[in-house]
Amino acid sequence: MTAIAVPPAAAVGNRTMSPAEYGSWAAEVRRLADERGAVVLAHNYQVPEIQDVAHVTGDSLYLSRVAAQTDAREIVFCGVHFMAETAKILSPDKTVLLPDHAAGCSLADSITAEQLREWKAEHPGAVVVSYVNTTAAVKAETDICCTSSNAADVIRSIPADREILFCPDQFLGAHVKRVTGRQNISIWAGECHVHAGISPADVRAQIAAHPDAEILVHPECGCTTSVLDLVSSGDLPAERTRVLSTGGMADAAAASTAAQVLVATEIGILHQLRSLNDATEFIPMNARAACRYMKMITPAKLLHTLRTGEGAIDVDAGTAARARRAVEAMIAIGEPGRGGE
Ligand code: 13P
Ligand code: SF4
Repeated sequence: MTAIAVPPAAAVGNRTMSPAEYGSWAAEVRRLADERGAVVLAHNYQVPEIQDVAHVTGDSLYLSRVAAQTDAREIVFCGVHFMAETAKILSPDKTVLLPDHAAGCSLADSITAEQLREWKAEHPGAVVVSYVNTTAAVKAETDICCTSSNAADVIRSIPADREILFCPDQFLGAHVKRVTGRQNISIWAGECHVHAGISPADVRAQIAAHPDAEILVHPECGCTTSVLDLVSSGDLPAERTRVLSTGGMADAAAASTAAQVLVATEIGILHQLRSLNDATEFIPMNARAACRYMKMITPAKLLHTLRTGEGAIDVDAGTAARARRAVEAMIAIGEPGRGGE
C-alpha cells in the first residue's frame, strides 16, 4: 500500500485529545498501518479521532465495498463485530483485525440462525432478506443481505410474486414496505436499542424548538413512521425531510445550505457531518443516542491492535462461503456511492 499523509486535525467537535496528542497518535497509527500493509476502515459512528485517522470512513455498504476491493494485506476494522465479520467474509484471504471483540450490536443479537431456520420452515419458498447487522451464521441462512442504503433496491430486485422474510430490524422493514409498496413482506420484530430510543416525543420537542430545520432520519429509528406521518399531514415540508443511511446523511450534509439540520441517528455521525459542512448547525434529535458498542473502539485500542496484530476475526469456511453469496448479491445492488435511501 502507498503511504498516505496523516490527515489534519479537523477543527471540529468532541475530540478528547489535544491537537498535539492527536498529531503524534495519528502519525503513529498511519506509520504502523503502512508498516503492516493495513487499511484502517471506520464507521461513521466511531469516535472523532478514529473517523479522522482512518483511511476510509463511511456507512456499512460503502465500507463493505472497500473491504471487498482493497489491495491492502490487512483490514483493521473500527466498527462493530458484524462489520469486521462481513469484511472477512468478503476477503477471506486477508487478515481482518477488530480492536475489541466485545463490540457487538443489539440489533444483530435480536435474531439467531436457529430462530431464522424455524421462521423459514414456517414460510417455505420465501426469499430471506437480512440486514447486514446480523451474524455470519444468520447471513449463511439468507438469500440476500441489505444495508440501510440499498434495502429498497434489494426488495425491488425480488420478483413481485415472491413472499419475503425481512430481518431483523422492524423499523427498517416497515420503511422498505412503505417505500416499495410491497405487501407480501413479513418482518422480524428486532430493533437497535439506540435507534429505537429516538422517539416520536423527541421528534416533536426538537421540531418545536427548531421549526425551520432540515430533518435527516435513519430508517432504524423508532420515530421514522411519525416523522413521515408529519410529512403526509403537511406538518413537515417533504423537501426538508429525508430518510437516509449514514452515508446518505453525509452526502446530504455536504450539500445542505440550511442554517440548522436535525439528525436522528447515533450521535457519532455529528462529527462527520460537521467536518463536511461548517456553515450549518447539526443538532441531534436525541443527544443521548450513543452506541456503547461503537465507542468500545478507542484510540488506545486501535494503536494496540496495530502494534500487536491481535484481534483477528475468524469465520469458519463453510459458514463464510454460504454467507458470501448473500453479501455479494447485496454489494451488486445500489449505487456504489457513500450511501442513499
Ligand atoms: P449505516 O451506516 O449503513 O447507515 O448503518 C447504521 C448502523 O446502525 C450500523 O450499525
Ligand atoms: Fe448495532 Fe445500533 Fe450500535 Fe448500530 S447503533 S452497531 S445497529 S447497536
